[in-house]
Amino acid sequence: MMEIVKKGGMMEKLVPIELDYKKLNGISKEQVAEHFDVLYKGYVGKVNEIREKLAGGFEGLPNATYNDYRELKLEESFALNGVKLHESYFLGLGGDGTVPDEIRKIFAKDFGSFENWQEEFHGLGLASRGWAVLYYDLDEKRLYNGLGDWHSHGGVWNAKPVIVLDVYEHAYFMDYGTKRKDYIDAYFNNLNWNYILDELKNIKKWP
Ligand SMILES: [Fe+2]
Repeated sequence: MMEIVKKGGMMEKLVPIELDYKKLNGISKEQVAEHFDVLYKGYVGKVNEIREKLAGGFEGLPNATYNDYRELKLEESFALNGVKLHESYFLGLGGDGTVPDEIRKIFAKDFGSFENWQEEFHGLGLASRGWAVLYYDLDEKRLYNGLGDWHSHGGVWNAKPVIVLDVYEHAYFMDYGTKRKDYIDAYFNNLNWNYILDELKNIKKWP
């Protein structure tokens, strides 16, 4: 039997967030329940399951082609990003879509105008296979739009996601079928700009 050469260490179990909105405008309760209870909570459960296995360490030397430890670490990042991105997505909704003047000012600096940003972000939602994300890049010190086709792909190191749009079909197919454009319109109508403004202020003091 192989000797265990390294212990991953126990981590605290992830606990799912709670949603305090019950109804969105143009995105049904059933759609949100399926998305939140099945998909999102499923990722939380998988992170905990993977970390429990990782806490047992690994046997022998890991290998970059295939080895149980490598696969667990890879899927840990998939599940964990699935949790983080979904939390930003759900917490960013539940508002009435009204954009505060302060947001318009902040966005105008990096995108010319709020409308420029919104037009590009809508296009990003059509171009992506999974995620459209407005993030703040801590190195370039600016807001920027990025896409990720799956949870463990397309993330930018040292960048903080600010606005997250889920365009996997599971996020809208019950309500909109193939009409993704209409779902993105509904998404904008439900954005909680006060939550987003708080997120921005947590990053830095804006001029
Ligand atoms: Fe999702």
